[in-house]
Amino acid sequence: MLATHKAIHCAWRSTRAAIAVLVAFVCHANARADAPLNYFLHADGPAATPTMRLGWALAALAVVVALIVSVLLIGAIVRRRPPPTERDASHVEGEGGGMHWVWIGTGVSSVALFATLAYVLVTLESVASPRREPRVTIAVTAYDWWWKIDYAGVTTANEIHIPVGEPVKIELRSADVIHAFWVPRLAGKTQTIPGVVNEQWIQADRAGVYRGQCSQFCGAQHAHMAFEVIAEPRAQFDAWYAAQAQPHAANATVNAGQQLFLDRCAGCHAVRGTDANGMQAPDLTHLNSRRLIAAGVLPNTASNQLDWIQHAQRIKPDALMPSIALTAAEAAALSAYLRTLQ
Ligand code: HEC
Repeated sequence: MLATHKAIHCAWRSTRAAIAVLVAFVCHANARADAPLNYFLHADGPAATPTMRLGWALAALAVVVALIVSVLLIGAIVRRRPPPTERDASHVEGEGGGMHWVWIGTGVSSVALFATLAYVLVTLESVASPRREPRVTIAVTAYDWWWKIDYAGVTTANEIHIPVGEPVKIELRSADVIHAFWVPRLAGKTQTIPGVVNEQWIQADRAGVYRGQCSQFCGAQHAHMAFEVIAEPRAQFDAWYAAQAQPHAANATVNAGQQLFLDRCAGCHAVRGTDANGMQAPDLTHLNSRRLIAAGVLPNTASNQLDWIQHAQRIKPDALMPSIALTAAEAAALSAYLRTLQ
């Protein structure tokens, strides 16, 4: 009797803990404004909706199974059993020893498993490729710890623009280790693997800003390797593209800030239309058109740019940009030059 009590108490405690976790999870998931990645519980495009529904269906199935098993387990624990002699007798009489429950259980779970398998296959098929051929293809290359974004004739970083309501093809490469490209509200995740070109497609049915994140551990700053997808109406997207395709409108006279940039930054960074053509860091031609810098870490303001340049290693330890010491005059000149990168 004591053992039974203990078992029930224990089962109740685990159930309470499970409910607490579930409630915390749902509450947390609803705090949408503060935590953009919670959007993985919501979908905004045809590449994401079927997988999200599948996820919820599998979660519901798992909960139902857990409930049934818990009820049966508790039933078995509290059920009064006949004394041993009667039990032995019933065995002899050949009542099956409960075998029919095994058959029922196996039958029900086989049906559930095959139905799940069919649903998974149908879902995979429905998100495998878009209904229409994408008109926009974007090449995304993952670097430790930022994203290079290439359109035909345009290179930018950490910010992907797409026309709303259209499928967009993403070609995924890696410049170093394995990363994974993930925009939870728009599609499942796909790895970027060195030497391999992976493909996926995304589509946003509503205009807006969708947060993306590297979701494969890739080193010290993995958690600070975010990006944004900005979905906008076609005309706005075309205007953005046309502006990005322009090279930097260079001043006729090279000023102190530009000279400093060429001397100390151009080995890594490019500004199209100038002699700065470094390949190993974000293209800065239209730096100020972006919302965030350092792969989602800081809002893109003039003061944050200077803070980043001088303290990159404090803000993002081990990032592949050194902290660069500048005198006040140098900082002012460099900042004035960076302002021209519209
Ligand atoms: C050794 C290579 C290197 C040098 C030199 C370098 N950078 Fe960088 N820079 C990087 C890398 C790599 C990143 C991306 C870091 C990250 O987000 O993890 C970066 C990021 C940036 C960013 C943020 C861009 C964005 O869109 O996120 C700015 C702005 C920037 N650097 C400015 C400069 C300036 C100005 C100089 C010269 C004073 C400079 N950098 C020198 C490698 C370099």
